[in-house]
Amino acid sequence: MHIHVLGSAAGGGFPQWNCNCHNCDGFRKGTLKAQARTQSSIAISEDGEHWILCNASPDIRAQLASFDAMQPARALRDTGISAVLLFDSQVDHTTGLLMLREGMPLDVWSTTQVHEDLSSGFPLFNMLKHWNGGPRWHEIPSSDQTSFTIPCAPSLRLTAIPLLSNAPPYSPRRNNPHPGDNIGLFIEDTRNGATALYAPGLGKPDANILAWMGKADTLLVDGTVWQDDEMQRCEVGTRTGQQMGHLAQSGPGGMIDVLDSMPAARKILIHINNTNPILDESSRERAILASHGIEVAYDGMHLELLGQQ
Ligand code: MLT
Ligand code: MN
Ligand code: ZN
Repeated sequence: MHIHVLGSAAGGGFPQWNCNCHNCDGFRKGTLKAQARTQSSIAISEDGEHWILCNASPDIRAQLASFDAMQPARALRDTGISAVLLFDSQVDHTTGLLMLREGMPLDVWSTTQVHEDLSSGFPLFNMLKHWNGGPRWHEIPSSDQTSFTIPCAPSLRLTAIPLLSNAPPYSPRRNNPHPGDNIGLFIEDTRNGATALYAPGLGKPDANILAWMGKADTLLVDGTVWQDDEMQRCEVGTRTGQQMGHLAQSGPGGMIDVLDSMPAARKILIHINNTNPILDESSRERAILASHGIEVAYDGMHLELLGQQ
């Protein structure tokens, strides 16, 4: 299977347009060794031609332009996107659907909860009906974790794993999390046995997700914040990582500890907030990650997973 990282930053991107925190300011002034990053999205494919867009970021136009496979030019109007899979109903994961309106109807997969949020608190599905009928919604089974496939990638066996995280501020279930508000995705390529797990929002790893993580050769997981109170320390916000549904990397029981216990060959952090010191390639925190064999995703990162064969 192919995995292409279209956007590796959390909501706001890096640098964030209105932010002058240490990282954003340092990037603009050229005093920080770091790469700019767009907002959270990856694309996965069985054949390298038909792609499942995992989350639709507000930066989608630039992301599509940056990856040639997204415009195969087989017809007058065309796209490499064969399906869209939404992991939650957050702004940074869904607003790109508005930018895809010219290409409706698109096949969009999500849980019932995400579909509800996007039909009520943030009614994207209702709005998009005015463009050629809007998205064709397909329900992702998440509560029973039955595997499913998407027609453009019949060899990729997909399993949605419900995650303990938080629903967005406009969701009727904010601060009252329900299974299906946020999912992770386990992907198995049945041709060669390659496995990957993608979970950009992972607040509290429970025994279930830990077991799935233990089965994956490649982990692409929540890298939002280094410290739970990082937004407060940087004086740019009041919400903690936990309140937003993100597990910090440092500290006891943090993401580094979790990843240390995993056998995966590649451990990659993704969905990185602009306040996170790991964005600075010369930072102490980045060196700590390296010493644990943990990588930091970047826009344009491309993985071809071959499995054991
Ligand atoms: C999150 O995952 O918590 C988001 O990136 C927050 C946001 O988009 O504002
Ligand atoms: Mn996010
Ligand atoms: Zn910033």
